[in-house]
Amino acid sequence: MISIGVDCEEIERFHKILEDRRHLERILTPNEIEYCLSKADPKKHLAARFCAKEAMIKALSYHKVNAALENIEILNDANGVPRVRVNLDAANDLVLQVSLSHCNTIAFAQAIVYDK
Ligand SMILES: CC(C)(COP(=O)(O)OP(=O)(O)OC[C@H]1O[C@@H](n2cnc3c(N)ncnc32)[C@H](O)[C@@H]1OP(=O)(O)O)[C@@H](O)C(=O)NCCC(=O)NCCS
Repeated sequence: MISIGVDCEEIERFHKILEDRRHLERILTPNEIEYCLSKADPKKHLAARFCAKEAMIKALSYHKVNAALENIEILNDANGVPRVRVNLDAANDLVLQVSLSHCNTIAFAQAIVYDK
């Protein structure tokens, strides 16, 4: 089975979250926070990661995997390609991919999940 999920968010609302460390740590892992904060406009990358996690949660639900934000990590490889890790046994037999995008106002992500 192949499943998809999408999500979009207004970037501006993530400005406040960046200033609230506890809220930030509920959404992102330490490595994700480090990545976002290394960028000129961190809230874009934060919003995109939030979208990607929501999109992945949607896609996983078709496979009867109930994931939460804290189960999912999205880190970019050396070429900038976002790679997803889900720390749930139920996801071990699944291929997980996301694609992220952000302009000045909107972040968007699409997830795809299929059986290995
Ligand atoms: C990689 C590329 C497609 C990103 O597109 P973009 O419009 O600049 O930026 P978007 O906001 O849509 O996407 C950014 C996200 O793409 C993802 N990304 C970056 N490099 C990627 C790659 N090689 N493959 C897949 N995804 C990639 C990242 O997730 C990034 O967000 P993040 O840093 O928060 O993780 C673009 O930079 C590129 O290389 N385009 C090729 C054409 C080109 O060279 N154009 C410029 C000269 S005309």
